[in-house]
Amino acid sequence: MKKIIINGGNKLSGTIPISGAKNSAVAIIPAAILCDEQSSIYNVPNISDRDALIDILHLLNCETSLNGDLLKIDSSKLENKKIPLELSKKMRASYYFMGALLSKFKHVEMYFPGGCNIGKRPIDIHIKGFEALGAKVKIKGDLYTIDAKELNGTNITLDFASVGATINIMFAAVKAKGKTIIRNAAREAEIVNIATFLNNMGAKITGAGTSIIRIEGVEHLHRTMIEVIPDRIEAATYIILGAMIGDNLKIENIIPEHIDALLSKLKDMNVKYEVDETSVTISKCDNVKSTNIRTEVYPGFVTDMGQPMSVLLTQAHGVSLFEETIWENRMGHVKYLNKMGANIKNGNTNSVTIGPTPLYGCEVEATDLRGGAAMVLAGLIAEGTTTITSIEHILRGYDSIITKLKNVGADIKIEDDEKDLVNM
Ligand code: EPZ
Repeated sequence: MKKIIINGGNKLSGTIPISGAKNSAVAIIPAAILCDEQSSIYNVPNISDRDALIDILHLLNCETSLNGDLLKIDSSKLENKKIPLELSKKMRASYYFMGALLSKFKHVEMYFPGGCNIGKRPIDIHIKGFEALGAKVKIKGDLYTIDAKELNGTNITLDFASVGATINIMFAAVKAKGKTIIRNAAREAEIVNIATFLNNMGAKITGAGTSIIRIEGVEHLHRTMIEVIPDRIEAATYIILGAMIGDNLKIENIIPEHIDALLSKLKDMNVKYEVDETSVTISKCDNVKSTNIRTEVYPGFVTDMGQPMSVLLTQAHGVSLFEETIWENRMGHVKYLNKMGANIKNGNTNSVTIGPTPLYGCEVEATDLRGGAAMVLAGLIAEGTTTITSIEHILRGYDSIITKLKNVGADIKIEDDEKDLVNM
């Protein structure tokens, strides 16, 4: 079993380069099967979710080549196959093959997806969208079988601005007959990136990034390329770290507009930083002010930044209230912050943090991806040694986290039970 071991307290200075966005790449990779030729995807992050998606592409008879952050996918010999339980369950994003295979073959068989245990995570909005386009969906336990004689464009208003449903319905609609309009669509930057990839292939999508997306179905999609946008959540994680322990720590290769809500919140908290076109430079703030945070759909203060932010709240002077509105179960990490010395009272979806409190290293668990990132931040600011278990959650979504942090001065390593050191 791998563990992350951190000796906390080192000031961090230098530059952390941000990788391609996980939540964009994990949809762009399945989208590549929508064309019958080769796609070139640049700036793909080196994360285990990427590898799990490539395993599914291989099952479907696609050829892939990976050279650094360039992933080429040749889907000219694509075959439709049932995606087995172990591949479907490996990550949340396996469900993007539902929309993509439905679009391509009008038939999909796969299981309910996996992903972080942060809530019930139903996929009813995706299914309602597929049905509106003309598909019939049979659900037997966790097995989903989706068939359509043909897919026809229609008007779909989402019950909630779900990221996954917006993307999956775009995939299913992109080759449907006629026009589809998705209302109450999610507006995430990743959705614009994915729609751009599809349009580069010949799709006709307008409005991505707003709450109304219009899709004119086309018959054929062709070879193309795309660059994955920078990961705004990875950037946010390291910026929050910089506010606690940075010494002119530069977070670069970012699009600052994607993290406006975070930067504005940091400003309210007294944290000073410099922003230029592609980077944020930040140093430790000694008088962080408490604040109140309520997570919102993008472009509000997004849920994925909440857990890293909860560590900064432990260092803020006064009482901070935090409310999570998207996921029912995103507070699992709080008990470990308290074990390290924080003073957080939490319910299922809200918490009260009284600070500042020093944190002390101890054994903690990565409860999920961003909860795990929060443990890394806590370990880096804590006195003494922190050991984090269940780190596979962290490696699903943070490219080269150990190397990036070591390069700016952190004392952090991955160890397995046999005491082999692993560089990631
Ligand atoms: C995406 O998840 C992200 N994952 C999540 O990031 C992120 O937290 C989330 O969007 C919200 O921004 C990926 O992109 C792979 P949703 P997704 O569908 O698409 C409810 C991270 O840390 N809902 O927007 O699964 C759902 O239960 C991860 O990087 C339904 O009720 O999220 C939730 O309450 C974690 N029925 C809300 O909508 C549905 O059919 C938002 O879910 C779909 C969703």
